[in-house]
Amino acid sequence: MFFEPHLRDKQAMRYDPFKALIAPRPVGWVSTMDKEGRVNLAPYSFFNAFSSDPPIVGFCSEGAKDSLAYARETGEFVWNMATWDLRNQMSETSAPLERGKSEFTHAGLETAPSILVRPPRVKASPAHLECKVIDIFHLRDVNANPVPRFLVMGQAIGIHIDEAFMEGGMVQITKMKPIARCGYQDYSVLDAVFAIQRPKGAGNLL
Ligand SMILES: Cc1cc2nc3c(=O)[nH]c(=O)nc-3n(C[C@H](O)[C@H](O)[C@H](O)COP(=O)(O)O)c2cc1C
Repeated sequence: MFFEPHLRDKQAMRYDPFKALIAPRPVGWVSTMDKEGRVNLAPYSFFNAFSSDPPIVGFCSEGAKDSLAYARETGEFVWNMATWDLRNQMSETSAPLERGKSEFTHAGLETAPSILVRPPRVKASPAHLECKVIDIFHLRDVNANPVPRFLVMGQAIGIHIDEAFMEGGMVQITKMKPIARCGYQDYSVLDAVFAIQRPKGAGNLL
């Protein structure tokens, strides 16, 4: 099958398959704070890491949402790892609450203070990145027309890892069980990994 996305046969394919193909996507569970100290928390699956040194991550707001507004206002956000144990609460934090209402309270999640930035962390998450905003890109389409999509890039200036999930100095990711977004209403959970050695001379990406 081949189709141009804007010409998709909506009878045959009711839901957009694009998001089901780029899967699984890690969940950017993003906490932010506005100038008045109001706290926000929401999941973003248009999220990923783009650089390791310095560590840079980004999330994309489809429309001008609160996380974007707060990150723009104060220049900070926190990434919280969404895990199997926290899956229902993570989903609850995507509820369209009135601006200023905390999704932490709504989802019954405790906060933990951050060290280098103001937005609090999800206490129950086993890992967090404290981030400073580097850039906010207003995305454009192929015709150079601005679209209501905003990519927020941040540098992780502080990293928290629950030591219960460290062994021999290495993260035990299958014990953390992060969840990731697939298409439609589906998710996956990372509970198994496999290793492949890199070809000789390919450098050491450990
Ligand atoms: C798993 C998951 C992933 C999501 N990913 C995105 C995303 O990448 N971009 C987006 O704009 N909304 C995404 N949403 C929807 C937002 O979380 C939702 O609109 C939320 O209310 C935004 O909150 P905010 O306005 O407090 O930032 C996602 C929802 C879920 C459950």
